[in-house]
Amino acid sequence: MEPWSFLHICDMQPGSPRSYRFNQRNMDNWQTAYQQIQGITDVDLMLVGGDLTRDGALHDFEYEVAKRELDALPYPYYAIPGNMDTCNKHTDKNGATGREDIRLNVTAEQLDRFVPFFGDFPWSFVHKNVRFSGFYAAVAGSGLPHETRMWHWLESELPALPRAAHHVVTMHYTLFMDSLDEPKWDITKADEYRDWYFSIDPPHRQRIFEAFKESGVSIVLSGHIHCRRPPQVVEGISFYRCAGIAMPQAADRWDDGNPTLGFYRFDVTDTDITPTFIPLTEESQSNEGYGPGGHPRAEERDYSLAWNKNEE
Ligand SMILES: [Fe+2]
Repeated sequence: MEPWSFLHICDMQPGSPRSYRFNQRNMDNWQTAYQQIQGITDVDLMLVGGDLTRDGALHDFEYEVAKRELDALPYPYYAIPGNMDTCNKHTDKNGATGREDIRLNVTAEQLDRFVPFFGDFPWSFVHKNVRFSGFYAAVAGSGLPHETRMWHWLESELPALPRAAHHVVTMHYTLFMDSLDEPKWDITKADEYRDWYFSIDPPHRQRIFEAFKESGVSIVLSGHIHCRRPPQVVEGISFYRCAGIAMPQAADRWDDGNPTLGFYRFDVTDTDITPTFIPLTEESQSNEGYGPGGHPRAEERDYSLAWNKNEE
């Protein structure tokens, strides 16, 4: 087969000047990345690994803009949500940061709001010699119908699909931080909160990994951490932690972590998939903006701050 290529982007979360909060840096960085991916014309498709919006859980207008921009690209794309689009992985206790984590548990309504814009998930399809699959792993442990569906898809549907030479999965959260058998990170401990926030808890973690093995998965792409790390190979499966686009995070988490903003291009042959990291041509240093960070309550959102009050 002739060599061919695909892209993977994630964690763009530009936000909107119509929102109760806005950070110009995030928008600048997404627009830089968007110009770069618009200029790449020799790829067959692009995977979008979640966090397309900053507050998609609240604002259709953020989804609408993201869809318009992605639809205008010269190649097809396939997207899964992230926690900024929907909401976070479930917990039954609040964490050490003072953030009200239980209030931020993802709901069925939030997950379903993604679908009219970017299509249903999980999904899986074959392009040439690669099977591509996408799902939102953070529904594990939620008890939502979406979790039941995810397990059925992972354990019954995916293994039964025809195999291709390679199988590439995108899932937003990382399956683990350091090792597959690391313990569950403790949300109530300040020095473990971030690792809890980024990763999938056991026993869901191991269950997902077993499903990957049953389906011949070769590459797993995750975002969410906004810090790139050399791929980690576990039982033949390469786990990529991908760079962010909006802003860097977790630069201090690993000795080999690299917070440079950007995205991956993958070049595919019969035997290999070779990554090339493409850094943003410029990282915005803007500190313009308004409104609170984090995950503020409804009564803390002041839309009169919005720079753009037009409905379009
Ligand atoms: Fe995220």
